[in-house]
Amino acid sequence: MRKPFIAGNWKMNTDRATAVELATAVARQADQLNNVELAVCPPSIYLDAVATALSHSGVALGAQNMYHEPSGAFTGELSAAMLLDIGCRYVILGHSERRHLLGETDQDVNRKLHAALAAGLTPIVCVGEQLQQREAGQTRQVIQQQFTGSLAGLSPQDAAGIVIAYEPVWAIGTGKVATPQQAQEVHLDLRKLLADRYNIDVADAVRIQYGGSVKPDNAAELLAQPDIDGALVGGASLEADSFLAIAGAA
Ligand code: PGA
Repeated sequence: MRKPFIAGNWKMNTDRATAVELATAVARQADQLNNVELAVCPPSIYLDAVATALSHSGVALGAQNMYHEPSGAFTGELSAAMLLDIGCRYVILGHSERRHLLGETDQDVNRKLHAALAAGLTPIVCVGEQLQQREAGQTRQVIQQQFTGSLAGLSPQDAAGIVIAYEPVWAIGTGKVATPQQAQEVHLDLRKLLADRYNIDVADAVRIQYGGSVKPDNAAELLAQPDIDGALVGGASLEADSFLAIAGAA
């Protein structure tokens, strides 16, 4: 049985005080939620402050990105070991904003994935098609390509421990959520890809989150789908009440 996993992606939002306040509010109320795992992913500069706010709570800390090299002359970058050192358990990799605004490729994501796993972080690997790709009937092909490229060289053991987030680009931050049927279809495809590439145990173990305009009023229907194991929440994770309402729906 896969435990539902709800993660908040704060993106480039909050300041130090609001980050701490938000994390504190989530941590305080998270105790009342059983059978769901929670994580928040603040801007990296606030990871340390948020780690302190989350300590003694069951809420995990995640980063929004990392670099694949372990150390060295890589100005402005952060390694997996640094994220682990500051208290991260998770790292989001290949978010569509990084793929499409910052030019991150499947190969970049793949290098980061291997580095994250080697350091002991759990990667949340994002995949998702753009609107014109969906309209051209290319969704399955795009997802398969991102899956294959991003996960290249991964052992079945390592694959079993990752989290995948399906985030249709046209649904991110637009208020245009995928229907539960649209999302379930892609989630099932992803699970079949896991079964074909690895085995049925890996396919059963991997949690696949949906992301893209998840709100308290649409979360329950999405999370009721058999292959949707959680949510990666952007906008609605910036308020403790809406984030926790989504977690409650799981
Ligand atoms: P959104 O973002 O919930 O604001 O659509 C989701 C994400 O990008 O992870």
